[in-house]
Amino acid sequence: MRPRRVFLLALAALLGLFAIAIWAQQPTSSGADVTGTGELTAPRSPDLVAEGRQLYKTGCSSCHGFEGEGVEGQAPSLTHAGEAAADFYLRTGRMPLGQVGDEPLRGEPRFGNAEIEALDAYVGSLGDGPPIPKVDPSAGSVAEGMRLFTDSCAGCHGIGAKGGVAIGGYAPPLGEATPTEVGEAIRVGPYLMPKFSEDAITPEEVDSIARYIQLTQNPEDAGGFGIGHIGPVPEGMVAWLAAIAALLLVARAIGERLGGSRADDEAEEPR
Ligand code: HEC
Ligand code: HEC
Repeated sequence: MRPRRVFLLALAALLGLFAIAIWAQQPTSSGADVTGTGELTAPRSPDLVAEGRQLYKTGCSSCHGFEGEGVEGQAPSLTHAGEAAADFYLRTGRMPLGQVGDEPLRGEPRFGNAEIEALDAYVGSLGDGPPIPKVDPSAGSVAEGMRLFTDSCAGCHGIGAKGGVAIGGYAPPLGEATPTEVGEAIRVGPYLMPKFSEDAITPEEVDSIARYIQLTQNPEDAGGFGIGHIGPVPEGMVAWLAAIAALLLVARAIGERLGGSRADDEAEEPR
């Protein structure tokens, strides 16, 4: 029967397209810039520390004290801030702070990469503090990241990481944070944000959170249908189902048309 054949052909073509679409949307694990920037590329050499000390004296000591000991009512001690805190505050342009009492906000970094590495090394040399975490979102799971983010972060930053209000301040949107900065923020707890130890949030969990945050940054790049890619799946599915339904109706209408006009020929075909 012709209408039926047209219908089946259309169906087969659709299934083919569907399979291709799913295949094409599989995320490639080699995707883009996954680790972000910010990891120290050079070891903490005495020269680097000395260079950082110079930069510190001119740019930071007025608030944090000559040796990073802090100044009462002005700025905290940096002796246990660690490289993670220095790197986070410098790369996100939060330091040097404009004015004591201001909430440090994200902005253009005031230093170049080499200077930041030197300042990181100097602050790190002041005492024990968190090192710059190595964050690899491609090793994380979106579903796990979403769960952890919902539990520990969404209360302030909002479930879509678009920012929100925290008591006494403002929790920024996370659209610009690199994976390394996400890891640093988790370990350092800038301003009103709590800090999380490795017991509270393991390095693997940080990978997952960073991956989820990446997804909120580029929902369209994330690829749907892969198991665990929670976000785009429902939307993509609905669109596909609607398209399939529409195409099937069209295919059927065409089939009926063809079938109708050829009813005579068909009647003459030997069975
Ligand atoms: C105008 C004063 C001021 C200047 C200048 C300044 N800071 Fe700060 N800094 C602060 C204040 C106030 C805080 C506390 C803000 C907070 O809790 O987030 C802070 C916090 C920090 C922290 C986080 C400390 C922690 O324990 O997590 C780091 C790291 C830091 N500053 C590094 C620097 C460096 C490096 C420079 C120089 C490039 C600098 N700051 C210049 C006032 C200043
Ligand atoms: C109590 C509220 C609160 C919670 C909970 C919280 N944050 Fe934050 N977060 C903040 C605030 C406030 C800032 C801004 C700090 C500043 O101004 O220096 C911030 C800053 C950040 C930044 C820096 C953003 C940028 O663009 O520079 C990142 C990344 C971040 N948080 C990630 C997280 C993650 C991941 C979690 C969960 C593990 C989390 N936060 C939990 C309040 C919170």
